[in-house]
Amino acid sequence: MTDLQSLLSGMTVAEKISLTMGSDFWHTAAVPTAGVERIMVSDGPHGLRRQPDDADHVGLIPSLPATCFPTASALASSWDVELVREVGTALGLEARTQALDVVLGPGINIKRSPLCGRNFEYLSEDPLLAGHLGAAMVQGLQSQNVGASVKHYAANNQETDRLRVSAEVDERTLREIYLPGFEYVIKNSRPWTVMCAYNRLNGVHASQHHWLLTEVLRDEWGYDGLVMSDWGAVHDRVAALAAGLDLEMPPQLGVSDVALRDAVAAGTLDEALLDLAAGRVLQLVGRARSRTPASADYDAHHALARRAAGESIVLLQNDGVLPLTDSPSLKVCVVGELARTPRFQGAGSSQVNPTRVDVPLDELRILLPTATVDFAPGFVVDGQDDAGLADAAVDAAAGADVVLLFLGLPPGEESEGFDRLNMDLPAAQLALLDRLSEAPVPVVVVLSNGSAVLTRWSGRAAAIVECWLSGQAAGGAVADVLTGAVNPSGRLAETIPHRLEDNTSYLNFPGESGRVRYGEGVFVGYRGYDATSTPVAFPFGHGLSYTTFEYGTLTVAQSGSYEGGDLALAVAVTVTNVGDRAGREVVQVYVGDPVASVSRPRRELKAFAKVALDPGESKQVSFTLTARDLSYWSTVHGQWVLEGGEFRIEVGASSRDIRVTGTVTVRAELPPLRLDAMSTLQEWLADPTGGPALRELVGHDGQGRPNGILANDELIKLIGNFPISSLASFGLGISHDMVRQLTR
Ligand code: BGC
Repeated sequence: MTDLQSLLSGMTVAEKISLTMGSDFWHTAAVPTAGVERIMVSDGPHGLRRQPDDADHVGLIPSLPATCFPTASALASSWDVELVREVGTALGLEARTQALDVVLGPGINIKRSPLCGRNFEYLSEDPLLAGHLGAAMVQGLQSQNVGASVKHYAANNQETDRLRVSAEVDERTLREIYLPGFEYVIKNSRPWTVMCAYNRLNGVHASQHHWLLTEVLRDEWGYDGLVMSDWGAVHDRVAALAAGLDLEMPPQLGVSDVALRDAVAAGTLDEALLDLAAGRVLQLVGRARSRTPASADYDAHHALARRAAGESIVLLQNDGVLPLTDSPSLKVCVVGELARTPRFQGAGSSQVNPTRVDVPLDELRILLPTATVDFAPGFVVDGQDDAGLADAAVDAAAGADVVLLFLGLPPGEESEGFDRLNMDLPAAQLALLDRLSEAPVPVVVVLSNGSAVLTRWSGRAAAIVECWLSGQAAGGAVADVLTGAVNPSGRLAETIPHRLEDNTSYLNFPGESGRVRYGEGVFVGYRGYDATSTPVAFPFGHGLSYTTFEYGTLTVAQSGSYEGGDLALAVAVTVTNVGDRAGREVVQVYVGDPVASVSRPRRELKAFAKVALDPGESKQVSFTLTARDLSYWSTVHGQWVLEGGEFRIEVGASSRDIRVTGTVTVRAELPPLRLDAMSTLQEWLADPTGGPALRELVGHDGQGRPNGILANDELIKLIGNFPISSLASFGLGISHDMVRQLTR
């Protein structure tokens, strides 16, 4: 008997139940008789929100100061796995400092619609990018013996009606878009905990979804950690426990415990399932025991937050006005209240009480010590119009060499809890841009927003710098990028469309009457814009640098075989920095299967790497792709399948800036289908064993020609998509008796 089993065997049913429920808003339950102490969890994901011990335990009062790192939408734009791991490690160190056992993050839900109010907490519209960065965050955190909680599992892609809405998603879409990020994180970083989503998935609450929580997560992916609920996501504790939900947070004391007790007593809930859940809580408590105290260096973490924000800023366009060079003759006019009152994080459960906050205007003045840097607020930060402020800003800008216009979304427009209604910046801000751009002074627009905003106005900006919500050091980081102290290397982790209507989720977001249909299927984000050949403002993967990178010849070398399980494609390309500044390029590898029996995206990101290059330097960047990278989820086979043929390998600087392309022909047979009476004639004929068996039964005439329909190709084309059981009534040489024999 293991230690855990012997601990459990000494506990009463009531004690085991108490373990599966938490004891208050942030703690699990202790079992003093068994020497089991409680542990503490706290948000997450980009900074800690630890409430003081004497808190009210409803989760709303201010938390202890902690470093507010860039939010997920910013951090993901770094495309830098190592950096995200470093941030995770710093979060873990702060958690140790504040005696926290589990940090509730990262959030790796896919950005299905740009309107999702919580997009700032999520990494990407692409599952590979979200998975790789999410795993790095978990590895960093857990390197400090502090657990992560990967959330919100799964298909939590909107805030509208978030506790009740049913996400109606077909299995292929789940497997290819909404689950692979979780799968990658589970398999590559073994998170201590997973947090279930609030919503229903295909009618069943995620907290009670056996397929999701047990069959896929544990049986298929081999997850061995604990599943906790999102806060208040449990509606039927017995069903949730039976589905695989180990820990309910916060506990519904007097309700859930009573329901569990009665169900065990009545025999409707197997006590072995209770043991499993309680055992996983004990395992988590055991893991948390390895945490040791630490003392975080908050200054160093602020510096890391600045570096991370600098790596995450995306230079969307630049006519050469940036970077600014300090000189006594340079006159800069900074416009926008956001330069003085920055918005650097989103609202809701992820809100951090920062240790300090960099102000962009102050940081610019530090980095441009001899230049004249004037300031005019221009507008009120909540988006309200103020003619006086706008007039004053236009006057202030008149004599400048360059205007730095800080625009962004007001806090009331995006947050956890509700979705945005449109993708526009406030009208007052855009009116100010219009007025400023009438003058001959170039205007650099600096954006702060958690989710993408439309840039219809881009023609009026000499440069656009997208900062996202980049944490407490965003002010310093943007000054670094504007002045060239940092060469921008962020790349979009989500597409910026021309119009909201261009996004493929548009007609099905946020749903109605309690249901949201993911009608666009796998065509999410750039997969959707590419499939409909829709021009976009700035494509997925895009971002400029102050230097220029060139791509050399692409090589693709195939080894192993699909049947042998060791198929591999070695992809390599040389990238050269041909400019005069050191910089970092994000090399992106996309795969496409132009001829496929299911509808596949034109290209899908399958690998990436961020490479640092000095001026004139070249590096070879290599990747290995596997069969899974070429495969699709076959609903009829119930598994990933690789369909042999030609694949396109594209390598480039964004999803729409492909620099080199190669093709490779891969040999692979689709696995045989399980044929039955409802399989069509064409499916039977195409099957390597079913086809010959059917032909033999149908037989030949005296001249050796097949009998009945099998001799008539035209007819096969016409009605070959009928199930053979239906054809059996047509008298075309296939009888019900034959169907019975074939499907016995
Ligand atoms: C959020 C989670 C969060 C939890 C605890 C919920 O409302 O959806 O992301 O971790 O609250 O604050």
